[in-house]
Amino acid sequence: MKNIFRTKPIESLLAETKGKDGLSKVLGSFELTMLGIGAIIGTGIFVLTGIAAANYSGPALVISFIIAGLACGFAALCYAEIAAMVPVAGSAYTYGYAALGEFWAWIIGWDLILEYAFAIGTVAIGWSGYFTSIVADLGLKLPTAITKAPFEGGLINLPAVAILVVITGILVAGVKQSATTNNIIVAIKLAVVLLFIVLGVSHVNTANWHPFMPYGWKGVFSGASVIFFAYIGFDAVSTAAEEVRNPQKDLPRGIIASLIICTVLYIVVSAILTGMVPYLKFKETAAPVAFALQQVGINWGSALVSVGAICGLTSVLIVMMFGQTRILFAMSRDGLLPRVFGHVDQRFHTPVKSTLLVGIITMIVAGFTPIGVVSELTNVGTLAAFIIVSASVIVLRKKEPDRPRTFKVPFSPVTPVLSMAACAFLIFNLQKITLVRFAVWLVIGLVLYFVYGYKHSTVSGDNSIDESAM
Ligand code: ALA
Repeated sequence: MKNIFRTKPIESLLAETKGKDGLSKVLGSFELTMLGIGAIIGTGIFVLTGIAAANYSGPALVISFIIAGLACGFAALCYAEIAAMVPVAGSAYTYGYAALGEFWAWIIGWDLILEYAFAIGTVAIGWSGYFTSIVADLGLKLPTAITKAPFEGGLINLPAVAILVVITGILVAGVKQSATTNNIIVAIKLAVVLLFIVLGVSHVNTANWHPFMPYGWKGVFSGASVIFFAYIGFDAVSTAAEEVRNPQKDLPRGIIASLIICTVLYIVVSAILTGMVPYLKFKETAAPVAFALQQVGINWGSALVSVGAICGLTSVLIVMMFGQTRILFAMSRDGLLPRVFGHVDQRFHTPVKSTLLVGIITMIVAGFTPIGVVSELTNVGTLAAFIIVSASVIVLRKKEPDRPRTFKVPFSPVTPVLSMAACAFLIFNLQKITLVRFAVWLVIGLVLYFVYGYKHSTVSGDNSIDESAM
């Protein structure tokens, strides 16, 4: 009987990265911060703000952003400590393996698959909203049948599927987004957010902030759980760990700096947004930031913001789909998933099969599911992974007290416990149906683990590589 809580020693994790396939170390803290912002600013601020303001938070959206930001801040500190200590690709999944053992690692990995697949779907739907709005500005109104999911009065969200076809193609061909391209896209994204702030601030009508909490505190908390999506992505910084020059210093800096910058921008944008337009009006749009500028008559600003948002959302898609294949790769390297997910194509030098699979699944998700459903599933998966990472900090401090930590979570174990409590709180403020769907996802994961991963895991030492698994 193998032990399902067997751990993967940190030494062997570090050794794996030093093989011939080791990635070149070119990133510093500036690039990492830009990478973080590139992954963070996306559908959350450009699209979900409208949904959260209209249905949950009202003008108190800004409080929802502060609550979700606090939860992420605690979690980010935990990520920073472990990422600096175990700088290997695979992120939270790998940390779980080192600290809590295989079973929890599998659960995290399974949660991350949910996080990434549904985040990709959500961002593609957000992309579609802005695309449809730009095309409408140009005088071509696309029919609802091809821009909305079946449960929202359409048949298929075609623009969302189309952008995923393009992104899948890009990743199959191996056109990796270079740090320079990312820097340019992030600069555009920051520029349109700042443009919105500058143009919008003088159109704030304080009357729109009343009533401030139309749905009460319950609404504000649910809004925080929805808007949590906007912060997802700082964890993607840690997936680049093997490509960082000085991971011990740069990873914590990149993670924390990108989160702080985005939090400040989000708070300012949400206050202005709800001040410009009565919150219920956001029910009418899938592109709220551009919509708000249009409502106050700044059409050129609205067009510029839409174009910037489209660029920004495209880069989030690339980072997320890349991250998804990396996680599958790491799990397959450990034998928990079939080796097909670790297969690298001879011609393109990319994981073609797993990229295609991820592409197809996310296209189905984006084409046929409403954004509210997919974004909540992303959030629950991510929050669950954050809880396990925070627990890992406490466990590793006990198990390996002497291992050097270049970054230490202040006030541990209080901060990791606060992180776990805050994430659990956000989970329980999601819709009940989301929790049910998540439970189903976990049950499927458990079955797969005991039917496949438990038997094929390479970590047990008594499990030679199984060719038949391919
Ligand atoms: N935080 C990212 C976004 O809002 C995932 O699109």
